Amino acid sequence: MRILVTGGAGFIGSHIAERLLELGHHVVVLDDLSTGREENIPGGVEFVKGDITDRQLVSELMDDGRFDVVNHHAAQMDVRRSVEDPTFDARVNILGILNLLQCSIKGGVKKFMFASTGGAVYGEQARYPADEDHPTRPVSPYGISKLAGEGYLFYYRIQCGLQTVIMRYANIYGPRQNPFGEAGVVAIFSHKLAQDEQVTIHGDGLQTRDYVYIEDVVTANLLALDNADSITFNVGSGIETDVVTLYKHLAKAAGTDLPPRHGPPKPGEQRRSSISPQFAYESLGWRPKVPLAEGLARTFHSFITADGRQTSG
Ligand SMILES: NC(=O)c1ccc[n+]([C@@H]2O[C@H](COP(=O)([O-])OP(=O)(O)OC[C@H]3O[C@@H](n4cnc5c(N)ncnc54)[C@H](O)[C@@H]3O)[C@@H](O)[C@H]2O)c1
Repeated sequence: MRILVTGGAGFIGSHIAERLLELGHHVVVLDDLSTGREENIPGGVEFVKGDITDRQLVSELMDDGRFDVVNHHAAQMDVRRSVEDPTFDARVNILGILNLLQCSIKGGVKKFMFASTGGAVYGEQARYPADEDHPTRPVSPYGISKLAGEGYLFYYRIQCGLQTVIMRYANIYGPRQNPFGEAGVVAIFSHKLAQDEQVTIHGDGLQTRDYVYIEDVVTANLLALDNADSITFNVGSGIETDVVTLYKHLAKAAGTDLPPRHGPPKPGEQRRSSISPQFAYESLGWRPKVPLAEGLARTFHSFITADGRQTSG
């Protein structure tokens, strides 16, 4: 298949592009390198540097039935930035997906796959883990813009018959995640530990998240590419892990007994989050396979070898 991967120079998108290429698909990456890096893009993949909101560029790129599938991973994904500058967040995450969708319809794309988010779309959860029927009550502009993207997918499915796949990710971690942003606690800790630096935990460290290793996320994308038509599913483990436990696993992988330092809690930070993989298992046969300790050890080791590909800010 001919597949456009937006955000393919970033953490998740680059792993997906790599695997699609290995499977013999023709892959083109569209990325503006705002947080991604050109060295993340696998060799053999055509790279177009550009902004997903650029009407002319995207329209020309997608003209003439050039792509069967769009796998949309480009985004403004910094929750704090979305709070500080909701207009910028909406420009990238709402106008960006809208531009891609309009050009997809015009260019004859059959299937559109979208990396949405579980934690931010469900907001403070009423039950744990959240299934796909859980109310969506985002409490950040980022969660709102991702949910708006889901709404546009629904619209284009109903109006134009576009096949749509919405993947609500938990907290994804693994090699190549950027350790210099606000998000990505595993990458931030791994980078610090790889430099023999002390890690700071915000608050008591008992806030929980649902962590899924990148390899499992790539598998979810492949299964949905081949087997799903119109579906919204969680890509999560259903398991809550607190930050202190996460640190212990990483410290063990790093062979250090340096204790973490505790800083002030982040204002407004969600206390708990986990999303159920049950529906993904029933509909696609997917569930996460890489155990947390193993995934964390692999991630830490990537930060002291070339595969992290993120050695400086
Ligand atoms: N990492 C997670 O835990 C997680 C969780 C939930 C959802 N997601 C979603 O998965 C997707 C990928 O996340 P990631 O962790 O790989 O982040 P990332 O920052 O590594 O990747 C995002 C990529 O998009 C590119 N990009 C940003 N704005 C762009 C624009 N206007 N035009 C073109 N390219 C642009 C960046 O340069 C980067 O390469 C995002 O949509 C994010 O919202 C990630």
